[in-house]
Amino acid sequence: QSGLSRRAMLGVVGGAGVAVGVAGASIAYGPQGTAHAADVDGPIEFYGEHQAGIVTPAQDRLHFAAFDLITESRDDLVALLRAWSEAAAQMTAGRPAGATGAVDGHPAAPPDDTGEALDLPPGGLTLTIGFGPSLFVDAEGRDRFGLADRKPEALAELPHFVGDALRPEISDGDLCVQACAYDPQVAVHAIRNLARIGFGKVSVRWSQLGFGRTSATSREQTTPRNMMGFKDGTNNLKAEDTALLGEHVWVPEGEGPAWMAGGSYVVTRRIRMTIETWDRTPLGEQETIIGRTKGSGAPLGGVKEFDELDFGKAGADGTPAIPMQAHVRLAHHSTTNGARMLRRGYNFTDGSDGLGRLDAGLFFIAYQRDPRTGFVPVQLNLASDVLNEYIRHVGSGLFACPPGVKGPGGFWGEGLFG
Ligand code: HEM
Repeated sequence: QSGLSRRAMLGVVGGAGVAVGVAGASIAYGPQGTAHAADVDGPIEFYGEHQAGIVTPAQDRLHFAAFDLITESRDDLVALLRAWSEAAAQMTAGRPAGATGAVDGHPAAPPDDTGEALDLPPGGLTLTIGFGPSLFVDAEGRDRFGLADRKPEALAELPHFVGDALRPEISDGDLCVQACAYDPQVAVHAIRNLARIGFGKVSVRWSQLGFGRTSATSREQTTPRNMMGFKDGTNNLKAEDTALLGEHVWVPEGEGPAWMAGGSYVVTRRIRMTIETWDRTPLGEQETIIGRTKGSGAPLGGVKEFDELDFGKAGADGTPAIPMQAHVRLAHHSTTNGARMLRRGYNFTDGSDGLGRLDAGLFFIAYQRDPRTGFVPVQLNLASDVLNEYIRHVGSGLFACPPGVKGPGGFWGEGLFG
């Protein structure tokens, strides 16, 4: 218990010592374009109408994990979600997981917390849960948890897309948890402790570390860069776009099952880049592939990063300044039947592939009200994207993210079991 009070005190000191502690932390972690140094150390509220980690200004680090249930007991599943929610509330506040001793009403079994985050501040940790299609009906068509009739239609399997090279062992999953923080140790600690708490009920199916957020999700943030060196997130939906978020990100009441009202759907894609080929591509060609300049991020034919995309504008040679096959044209809502989503991806570099190439790319994450009118039409439209010559989708995930936990005593996905 002394660990708990020490951590609690650290939390207080961290919160008050904004000016000093944070500047140092900011340099230490090097988050891309962190607008307010205070965000780096402080806690982010776990409880609320929506889950944190969606419109929360994207933190610099990610540990995303997909889990498979290894129990077939509905009671086990509910107990797990209760224990996880309790632990998530603790860890996002900067306290050890399970320190309240409330796992199924029993003191958490030792080790109460794995310890590697004991001296660290909350680090802007958010934990966001999602339920995969297989939680409702598994690959063999079984309804293991009596949830089949609660499955949202919007959680329909994604179609096969041109160029997909998906590997089952890094795709799908019954549950997912997205941990974002400014310190990788904080994010990894959180996933590790959820896996520990779930021992005997869940096993990790796959997980992904990410760095250098590839998206801005708030106008307070500068736009970061992806591994292709381009600014990413310029034309993203942002936390300030409340009306657009209501239209494109949050599930409204009355749409689909009641338990999803206030939730969102997340699509993840592990996108490998053929970095070495990209690096031998001339700058001008890279820019016509994306449709923006590499330096400032301005649209081709424009001057500044946030200039409107002008798809009608001709370049010096009379052809469209933003080519017809440019990524930003094909992904823009004017060419995708109005589809929009909130992108929240991360860079990854997972060593090399044994052939002298970096195993690097973009771990794409996007939140939307309905993937059938969000991710799917955009990805279908990207079939003719020249960018496809430099990327390969190797992992995929689709999860229904329930609304936020309203307060202590509540738990993730509670409405699903009512
Ligand atoms: C825009 C890169 C994959 C959807 C952009 C921009 C860049 C970029 C540099 C311009 C800046 C911005 O507005 O954010 C990439 C790279 C990818 C990738 C390197 C793969 C490794 C995807 C995928 C989707 C997608 C898979 C969705 C299916 C979008 C959308 C925009 C965008 C919706 C905004 C277009 C607009 O309204 O201007 N992307 N992207 N991107 N991308 Fe991607």
